[in-house]
Amino acid sequence: MKVLGISGSLRRDSYNAKLLREAARHAPDGVDFEIADRELLRQLPAFDQDGEDDPPAPVQELRRLVSSADAVLFVTPEYNHSIPGWLKNAVDWLSRPQAEAALKGKDVAVAGASRGAFGAVWSQAELRKTLGASGARVIDEELSVPSAHEAFTEEGELIDEELRQLLAAHVAGLAEAAGS
Ligand code: FNR
Repeated sequence: MKVLGISGSLRRDSYNAKLLREAARHAPDGVDFEIADRELLRQLPAFDQDGEDDPPAPVQELRRLVSSADAVLFVTPEYNHSIPGWLKNAVDWLSRPQAEAALKGKDVAVAGASRGAFGAVWSQAELRKTLGASGARVIDEELSVPSAHEAFTEEGELIDEELRQLLAAHVAGLAEAAGS
């Protein structure tokens, strides 16, 4: 079972990237958890429908990664109560061409961390909506990490034991959905 993790933040010291690494660490046995390379994600060009059948190399590589995974976990920050623009752009690339889109029928889950008190809840709701519109099978559960700047140890581990357990259950739920 292969799960691909995509961080919605391109920031070097991103809390969402930390959360994604924690998700990988707490993945259940039998799950091969791969994290999409930040440099690859930074290279994605703006979506252009003229190029959807023969897109630039970084898009082809991301489509290949998503297609070869059994499931995808998106971990996103909240930008102005929505998802980061580049992430919507990535979802658009992965939603086309419609008939053979990388996200079509793919089991996906979302999680989110933000400095605010709500843990990127609006962003997660928006991401789930747009992933559903792209043909993905989106699991209902979300996972929120509020006050993200206070949520991790120096080593990048989640401080809150309950959150760690919820994260492990979140990844396990995604793997189970993809395996059924
Ligand atoms: C933010 N931030 C933010 N936080 C939040 O809780 N709700 C919001 O709507 C926004 N909006 C927003 C817009 C933009 C453009 C930026 C750059 C930031 C703050 C955000 O939670 C914080 O920068 C996180 O650290 C972003 O996540 P990463 O990059 O650490 O993963």
